[in-house]
Amino acid sequence: MKPRVYATRPLPQPAIDLLSKACALRVYPEDSAIPEHELADNCRDVEGLLVNAARVTEEILLKAPKLRAISNIGVGYDNIDVEACTQRHIAVTNTAGSLEETTADLAFALLLAVARRVPEADRYVREGRWQHWQWGLLHGTNIHHKTLGLLGFGGIGQAVARRGRGFSMRILYFARHRVAESVERELQAHYADRKTLLQESDFLSLHVPLTPETHHLIRAEDFSLMKPTAMLINTARGPVVDEHALLKALESKRIAGAGLDVFEQEPRVLPGLLTLQNLVLAPHMGSATVETRLDMAMLAVKNLLAALAGERPPNIVNPEIYF
Ligand code: 8YV
Repeated sequence: MKPRVYATRPLPQPAIDLLSKACALRVYPEDSAIPEHELADNCRDVEGLLVNAARVTEEILLKAPKLRAISNIGVGYDNIDVEACTQRHIAVTNTAGSLEETTADLAFALLLAVARRVPEADRYVREGRWQHWQWGLLHGTNIHHKTLGLLGFGGIGQAVARRGRGFSMRILYFARHRVAESVERELQAHYADRKTLLQESDFLSLHVPLTPETHHLIRAEDFSLMKPTAMLINTARGPVVDEHALLKALESKRIAGAGLDVFEQEPRVLPGLLTLQNLVLAPHMGSATVETRLDMAMLAVKNLLAALAGERPPNIVNPEIYF
């Protein structure tokens, strides 16, 4: 009998086709976060879950006695209680490897947009305010030859570093683990301690996963270490930054700007942030390209099929279940 699988989002057709060949598939029909009770109801008889932006808590697991594998369509898996899964020998996978370059593109797009005030310029033209050329109009700040600081230096952080090198930037990074010397050399990236990173970055871009240790990793005292001309870019997870402290830092011009794709209480954005000009906002769309969303879905399906076939999936997050 085919294993039963539930997907919490409508998926691209090739992913549905591949899954349907091997599994009895049911799909939540809405392109929105599935309510917790619906997920719980639909979990009862399934062996596999394909999850996107749905929270898989221990309560959900208790309702899903047959569950053997959870495939997360995303690299960050802070939505899943991995520890509880591991205790139950449920394989958890993510889609690392499919979206790093695309997310780095968005981080850089936000950096360019806030530095060169692109959304403000767009509004200026659309609103018919452009009457004549002005010397002093919409001055931004240079990007080239500035210091790009990367907090977190995994796949996405390194992809952002490569883009920074393309703009002749000086690259600093801080991460829990220093990367191999060969990687530092290739990216011309210099390891800095956290304080130096904060003090010297003209653009600080965040690339850490959300864990209890990284919750509010950037808070009020960090903004006071940063340059008043510095700009913060966050395409990682909202709760990595204390949003109220960020709002204060922007309002008081403690830092010069920010580009944010993620927020503490998505989709809620602090009302104060919406009134600021020195800020570029996006609705959590780091991986949102046609090509990458298809790659993510296909990789997530392959991970799930491998796990259900009793093989170790390529993107296993909790390998300890196989020991
Ligand atoms: C996903 C992401 O779209 O991969 C991630 O961690 O943030 C995005 O690519 C997101 O996880 C969906 O919730």
